Amino acid sequence: MRPFDYIGGSLSAGPVRLADVAAEVGTPVYVYSADAIEAAYREFEAALAPARICYAMKANGNLAVLRLLAGLGAGADVVSEGELRRALAAGIPPEKIVFSGVGKTDAEMEAALRSGILQINCESASEVRSLSRIASRLGLTASVALRINPDVDAGTLDQISTGRKTDKFGVAWTEAPVLFREAAGLPGLSMEGIAVHIGSQLGELEPYRRAFRRVAELARMLAADGVAIRRLDLGGGFGIRYRDETPLPLAGYAKVVEEEVGGLGCELVVEPGRRLVGPAGVLLARVVAVKETPARRFVIVDAGMNDLVRPMMYGAWHDILPLAAPPEGAEYRPADVVGPVCETTDKFADERLLPPLEAGDLVAFCEAGAYGAVMASTYNGRPLVPEVLVRGGRFDVVRARPTFEEDLALERLPEWLRGPDGGG
Ligand code: LLP
Repeated sequence: MRPFDYIGGSLSAGPVRLADVAAEVGTPVYVYSADAIEAAYREFEAALAPARICYAMKANGNLAVLRLLAGLGAGADVVSEGELRRALAAGIPPEKIVFSGVGKTDAEMEAALRSGILQINCESASEVRSLSRIASRLGLTASVALRINPDVDAGTLDQISTGRKTDKFGVAWTEAPVLFREAAGLPGLSMEGIAVHIGSQLGELEPYRRAFRRVAELARMLAADGVAIRRLDLGGGFGIRYRDETPLPLAGYAKVVEEEVGGLGCELVVEPGRRLVGPAGVLLARVVAVKETPARRFVIVDAGMNDLVRPMMYGAWHDILPLAAPPEGAEYRPADVVGPVCETTDKFADERLLPPLEAGDLVAFCEAGAYGAVMASTYNGRPLVPEVLVRGGRFDVVRARPTFEEDLALERLPEWLRGPDGGG
């Protein structure tokens, strides 16, 4: 069953009518289906076991989402101390956490070491040396994977490709053998793995094959030198359907993994983000006004680029569905769907064919569970968008909409700007 479908003319998550969520929590609001996240996780497990699934929580770091995944057995791929603390707070055991990221600070590496996580993925010679120094100072040993840059074009959007030699990520595969050998001799490090991640929203298997082949070559070369690799972290990138794409076939992916690295006898890690949560979420918004100008028809909604930035940042497509099913034979007309933010780029869709909509109507932006709420901001003085989790027939607010007072609470006036009463 699709995570969100019309039941009795009303777009619903299972038995929960999304209009009821909007009425109770207000708009804009993200709504996630726990059942859909669970189903996506099970699909991964079935296709890739016994690989470890370390959820790339940058896609959606909500505590309830993390707790749900932790309960299913997921680990986490984290990229900051904030994410590490969130993962631990959600109950993901440290021995299931990997720490990725191109620019870890000393403080972050120390936090990772102190919490005893499974693996730290290093992305440069300088990071390897810093980690050795920090681990030695703490009297700890870091389990390390070296992230290589395989110089493979993932064939996805330019902005979310990470594995070409001109991208900032990883250590050039040509330089990895030398660095790996150097690292193997440094104190405080246990060099255990090779990591790779070539980009996000991949639809094709071939780029994975090319990247994994380079990983296998490196593992074999190191083994011949007496440096045994015990773990391969194959990253994420599993594409989903936003418009008309075919989701990356997981069975085909598993076959590529088996063919390219299966013979190495290594433990495997995968880091899916989008695929676990993207299709399981929608952003609900209310139409504020419909404005017809001589040139265009604008549907103005109460969600903006600060709430869901993917269309503006990547030109990404999100289906837009009215919560009330359009009547049979409704006339679809093109409209620009825009937010209230004072930027021309605050536009979700250009001349999108939509059924009749008027002020007060509710719409859903689909496939918004990944890289939605996590990328939200408060631009234009708009409070961060709240989040709701649906399970079976119930729904719960899992992140409240901050109040305007809370939004102001972190800010201080310097003494010289305060009024005579000490206040604002
Ligand atoms: N592992 C690493 C090291 C990553 O950098 C990423 C994503 C993942 C795993 C998870 O990739 P996924 O399975 O979700 O494709 N904001 C962009 C996507 C950025 C992805 C960043 N890294 C978007 O909205 O499309």
